[in-house]
Order: sequence, then structure tokens, then C-alpha cells
Amino acid sequence: MLDLGQLQHLVVLTGAGISAESGVPTFRGHGGLWRHYRPQELATPGAFGRDPKLVWEWYDWRRGLIGECQPNPAHHTLADMEARLPGFTLITQNVDGLHHLAGNRRVLELHGNIWRMRCTREGTQQVDRTVPLPQLPPRCANCGALLRPDVVWFGETLPADVLEAALAAAAACDIMLVVGTSAVVQPAASLPLVAKQNGALLVEVNPQPTPLSDYVDLSLRQPAAQALPEWWASWQEQRDSRADRDPDG
Ligand code: OAD
Repeated sequence: MLDLGQLQHLVVLTGAGISAESGVPTFRGHGGLWRHYRPQELATPGAFGRDPKLVWEWYDWRRGLIGECQPNPAHHTLADMEARLPGFTLITQNVDGLHHLAGNRRVLELHGNIWRMRCTREGTQQVDRTVPLPQLPPRCANCGALLRPDVVWFGETLPADVLEAALAAAAACDIMLVVGTSAVVQPAASLPLVAKQNGALLVEVNPQPTPLSDYVDLSLRQPAAQALPEWWASWQEQRDSRADRDPDG
């Protein structure tokens, strides 16, 4: 058990695995989307340029699937952490919006959000949760140009302000929880190493080993919906028993 008494700043980095128990498919591994679909045909600027309707059909299908899903106990635990811990930062690679639905208010979304659309001409953004979309590909109501999903595609850079905030949080944290990511997609996969280099403890929550596993201080090889509530409950018990022993401390 890690000593969490001195915890000042907890960072949590999530990936597709945290939403697996909500019913959202992951990308890699058993049943993963990239087992059945080719990312270069669906999730690149080139693919969108060639066939925006096909790309939108795929996103419309995913929006329909995600729209049926609810946050699970792992998401709810992170919302509780944000409400109770002053030094808490949530960074996600997920575009499904389930962290917001669970109640997290400050979420650094590295790869964007599937419910947001962006005008390819004006750059304006809008949230639209309509499923299915009435017209594919959708067009900007203001200028008529194509709208695109406001997500990061392969070959694109991450939103600079979000990445900068994520790197700063990683460098400043005492503990980073890495939950449900295969830790192979950059630059997100480097964040735990930035944390480690700056002295943080790393905890990985993943039923499977990843390239990060050799570097972590604690591996919880369990599904997130089980491991996160348990870890959080035991941390709170530890904190409460400290307070009982040392009421002035
Ligand atoms: P992946 O699909 O690559 O990895 C999901 C990870 O979740 C795997 O390591 C699984 O072992 C783990 N996992 C599965 N079920 C779990 C559970 N119940 N609890 C905890 N872990 C579980 O997803 P990401 O690492 O998020 O990028 O993928 C990173 C990026 O690659 C995505 O954001 C997306 C994708 O291409 C873009 O779209 C830009």
C-alpha cells in the first residue's frame, strides 16, 4: 500500500479501458475498433478529404453507440475525487464525454470530444448530441462549409493549451493513476514518464500489462470499475485513521 498521507496533487490519466465497462468499445485488444476498421481510412485528415460522408457515417455510428452508454463506478469515483481533492487533475484520451456525464467539471481532453463539431472553414465549434445526425456530412449553419468531428485524428497535433496543461500537471503531481490505456499513443503515453521523472509515484489500473508496466510502482490488474472505487475507499480510510490518531495534524 502506498503511503498517501502527503498527497498534494493527484493526476489521473484515462484511456478507452475506463469506458469499457460502460459498453464503449476500446481501440486495441480483444473486440477493439482497430481490429475491424483501418484508422487511416476513418480517422485521418486525408480520409476526411477523400470521403467526408464515409468518415461521418463512422462517427455517427459511434455517437449512437456512446449515446446509449452511462458512466460506470470508475467514472463516478473520479468525479468524487475532483469534488473532494483540491489538487486533482483529470486528463483523458477519451472522446466519449463520459467523465463530464459523471460530474467531472475540469477535464483535459487530449483527443477532443465526439459530441463537438468544428467548422472546417471558420473553426467555430458547437456541441451537438443529435443521434443520428439528420444530414451526412453535416454542414455549418453559418457558412455552409463541411463540419468535422472536433477530435484529434492521426497525423494531427493535439490542442496546444490542453497538452501544455497536461504536461504541467504531470510534472507537478505526487501520484499519477494511469487507467485503462494501452500507453502506446503519443504524446499521451509520455505523460506518466514525465511524472515519474519528476518524482511521482505511478499506479497503473489495467487488467493487461502495457509498455508502461515495468515503470510503475503499483499495478492493479483489475477492471477499472472495481479497482478505482476500492483504491479510493482505502485511501480515504487511511486518511481518516490518520486524522483520528493525530487530530491536530
Ligand atoms: P486502447 O484501446 O489502445 O487500450 C485500452 C486499454 O484498456 C488496454 O490496455 C486494455 O487492457 C485496457 N482495458 C480494457 N478493459 C479495461 C477495464 N475494464 N478497466 C481498465 N482497463 C481496461 O485505448 P487507448 O489507450 O485509450 O486516439 O488508445 C489511445 C488512443 O488510440 C485513443 O485515444 C484513440 C486511439 O486511436 C485517437 O483517436 C486519436
